[in-house]
Amino acid sequence: DWRKLLPGVWFHDPGLATTSGAESAITELDGENGILRYRGYPIEQLAEKSTFLEVSYLLLNGELPNQQQSDGWVNEITHHTYLHEKFRRKMYDSFHYDAHPMGLLCSNVAGLSTFYPDSKEIDDPANRMQQAVRLIAKMPTLATSAYRHSVGQPFVFPDNTLDYASNFLRMMFELGNPYEVDPAFQRAMEVLLILHADHEQNCSTTTARVVGSSHTDPYTAMSAACGALYGPRHGGANEAVLNMLDGIGSYENVEPFIEGVKAGNERLMGFGHRVYKNYDPRARIIKEAAHDVFAVTGTNPLLDIALKLEEAALSDEYFISRKLYPNVDFYSGLIYESMGFPRNMFTVLFAIGRMPGWLAHWDEMLDQDSRIARPRQLYTGEAERDYIAMSDR
Ligand code: CMC
Repeated sequence: DWRKLLPGVWFHDPGLATTSGAESAITELDGENGILRYRGYPIEQLAEKSTFLEVSYLLLNGELPNQQQSDGWVNEITHHTYLHEKFRRKMYDSFHYDAHPMGLLCSNVAGLSTFYPDSKEIDDPANRMQQAVRLIAKMPTLATSAYRHSVGQPFVFPDNTLDYASNFLRMMFELGNPYEVDPAFQRAMEVLLILHADHEQNCSTTTARVVGSSHTDPYTAMSAACGALYGPRHGGANEAVLNMLDGIGSYENVEPFIEGVKAGNERLMGFGHRVYKNYDPRARIIKEAAHDVFAVTGTNPLLDIALKLEEAALSDEYFISRKLYPNVDFYSGLIYESMGFPRNMFTVLFAIGRMPGWLAHWDEMLDQDSRIARPRQLYTGEAERDYIAMSDR
C-alpha cells in the first residue's frame, strides 16, 4: 500500500496509462503478444466454440456453466427480455425522431433504475446477479427499440423461443413478413458479441467501476459506461471507420489519406490501441468472420479500401515505429453494414456485447469492498487572491 510506504506521496498520470486501478481475475490482456483470455480461456477458442450467453456466465461467475447451469441461465435471460410497456412507450416517444440510438440507450439504461429500486441493494450478491440478468436480457430490446423509434417502424416484441442473437436480429429487422434468421448472420452476431464481451480496464469499464465505487445502482453505473463507450476514441470508432472509408472513397486516395494522417491532419480510425502493441487478436477473428457474412451478402465495396489502407499502414514507418495495428473496430463496421445495420447502431452493438464485462467488473469491485474512486490532481490555477468588485473588473 503506497499510502503507508510513502505517506503524502502521489503520482501524476494523465490517462492513467501507467496506473493499475484494480485487482481483477476476469480478463487477461497481454498487449505486446496480442493475447486476450476471459477467465483463462483464449478468445480464439471462445469465439469458435462458445455462445455469447455462455461467455456472459463465464465472465460473471468465473467458470463455464455445466448443462444444468447453462439451461437455467439461458432460461433466466430469455424471460427478462421485456420492458415495462409504459417505460417503452413513454421513454422512446419523448425523444426526437432522429435521435442517435446511443443517446437513447444511455438514457434508457439509466431510466431503468427507476423501475428497479431494489437494485440499490448492492451489498446483496444475489440481488446484483438479478440486475445483471435483467440488463443482459434487456439490452437487445432497448437497442432495437431505439432503432425502431429512429426509423419510425413499429416495435417488435421479443420471442422467447429464439436464442439471444436470433431474437436480437429479428427485433431489428422483421417488417411485414416473418424474419428468417440466416445461420451465417446468427453465428457472426454471436462471434462479434463474444469478441466485445470484455477487455479489462478500458475506458467504459473503468467508468463502470468508478461510478459503481460510489455505491450507486447498476443501471446508473452501466449508463455511465455506455456514455464512455459512445466516444469515437472508444466504441464510437466503428462508426467513425466507415465514415472515414466513405471519405477516402477510392483506392487512389488511400496514399494521400495516409500522408494526411502522418502530417497530423487526421487519425486513422480503427487503428492503434493503448494496450495492444501488436495485431489485436479480435481484429484477426473479425476479418475471418467477415468472409462468412460476405459469402451471403456479397462483399462490402468499402472492404477493398480497408484492405489497401491496412496494407499501406502496416508497411509505413510512421505506423510501424508507433506499433499501430488494426483494432477490433477496423473491420467490425464492414460486417455490420453488410448485415443491414445502419452506422449509428454500430456502437449500440458494441454496448450489447460489453454489458456482461461491465457487470462482471462492477460485481467484482463490490466484492472486493473497494474504496471510492477519488484521484488527486496537480493544481495549476491561480494562487489565493481577493474578490474584485464588478465595477473594478
Ligand atoms: N492514427 C494516427 N496516429 C495514431 C493513431 C491513429 N489511429 N493512434 C495513435 N497514433 C499515434 C499518436 O499520434 C502518437 O504519436 P506521437 O507519439 O507522434 O505523438 C502515438 O501514435 C501514440 O498514440 P497515443 O495517442 O499515445 O495512444 P493512446 O494510447 O493515447 O490512444 C487510441 C489510443 C485507441 C485512443 C488511439 O490509438 C486512437 O485514437 N485510435 C483511433 C480510434 C480507435 O480506433 N479507437 C478504438 C480503440 S479499440 C476499441 C475500444 O476498445 O474501444
